[in-house]
Amino acid sequence: MKNRWMNAKWIGLLSVLMVFLSGCGKNHLSTLKPAGEVGQEQFNLMLLSIIIMILVILVVVVLFTFALTKSRRSKVGEEFEPKDIAGNHTLEVIWTSIPILLLIILAIPTIYFTFKQADTQAMETEDGELNGEEVIVNVTAHQYWWEFEYPNQEVVTSQELVVPTDTKVYFNLQGADVKHSFWVPAAGGKMDTNIDGINSFYLVFDDDKAQDSNRLFYGKCAELCGPSHALMDFKVEALPQEEYEQWLADMQAVEEPAQASTEDAAEGQEIFNNSCIGCHAVTPQGAGAQGPNLANFGDRDLIAGYLEHDKENLVDWISDPESLKPGNKMTGAYDLSEEEIDKVAEYLMELNVEEGSGDVSTLKENAEESSEEESSEEGGN
Ligand code: CUA
Repeated sequence: MKNRWMNAKWIGLLSVLMVFLSGCGKNHLSTLKPAGEVGQEQFNLMLLSIIIMILVILVVVVLFTFALTKSRRSKVGEEFEPKDIAGNHTLEVIWTSIPILLLIILAIPTIYFTFKQADTQAMETEDGELNGEEVIVNVTAHQYWWEFEYPNQEVVTSQELVVPTDTKVYFNLQGADVKHSFWVPAAGGKMDTNIDGINSFYLVFDDDKAQDSNRLFYGKCAELCGPSHALMDFKVEALPQEEYEQWLADMQAVEEPAQASTEDAAEGQEIFNNSCIGCHAVTPQGAGAQGPNLANFGDRDLIAGYLEHDKENLVDWISDPESLKPGNKMTGAYDLSEEEIDKVAEYLMELNVEEGSGDVSTLKENAEESSEEESSEEGGN
C-alpha cells in the first residue's frame, strides 16, 4: 500500500516537472535548443558544468550514505573510537587537488570559447575600414524598440532584424538612452548595449535550425530598462543567403516614400508628413532617428513589438501608446483626432516593400563602389 502511494507521488511530481520543462524547449526562443554555432558552444559549456556538478553531488552522496550506514554505533560497538585524521597530508592533498582539477577542466574550454566568441576582427579590413565582405549589423537599443542598420548596404530597419543563415553575423551594439541588453536566446548569450562605447560580437544561424522554427527567432531586451522592459521584443528572420541579399536589394530600391493607394491613405500620408515624419522615416535610409523606421511597416508581423499586426491594434496603439507600452517616447508627441488616426493607420498599413523589386547585382555593384570610394579616399589622405 505504502509503495503504491510512493509511486503515485513520484508520478505526480514527474508530471508537474514535465509541464514546467515543456516550456523550455521552444525552437524559436530557447537556449536549450541552440540554433547555431555560438549557441551550441555555450550550450555545451553549460552541459559540461552540469555534468561536473552532478558528478560531485553523486560522489558526496555515496560517501555520505556509506559513512551513515557503515559507522553506526550498533555496527562498530560502543567502544569504537574513530581514527584521528587531522593533519593527514595525503588526504589534504587529495581534497585540495580534486576541486582544482575540476576547475581547470571547466576553465580551459570556458576561456577558449570566451575569446573565440569575442573575436570580431573580421569586421574591419587591414586598414581599419569596414569590411564590405562580412555581414555587419549596427544595433541601437531605444526605450522600447530596436534599430538595425546594415552599414555596408546603407539600409536601416527596426524591430525586425533580417539575417542570412550559415554565416557569421557581426553585431555592433549600442544603447541610445539607458542600458539595454541584446538577446536572441536560441542563437547565443546576451550582450549589453551601453550608451558610451560599442560592444561587438557575432552570432550564427544554422539554416536547418532556422527551417525548424519557420525562419523566425525571438529577440528580447535582457536588462531592466524601464516600465516597458518586458515588452521590448524584436523578431529575427533568418533567410538563406540569396533571399537575404534580395531583401537588402528590395530595401535599397526604396528611394522615395511609398505612395498611398486610396484617398483615405493619401490623407493619412499628409497627416503623417505633418505630424510624425520628424521621428519616423518611411524610407530605409538614415540611421539614428528618434523613432522606429517604418519603411516596411506593412510587412511586419507585430505592432509595437508584441501585438498582432492588424489595423485595429495599430489604431489602439497610436490612440493611446501609454496604455500599451508605459513610458514610451511617443506618448504626447502628437495631437490627432480619432478620424486622423484612422487615416494614418490606413497609410501605415500600406507601407510595403515590394518583394523582388530590387536588383541584387546592383546591390553588389554598390558595395564594390563604396569600398572603392573608401580606398580612394584612403589614397587621397
Ligand atoms: Cu530595454 Cu529592457
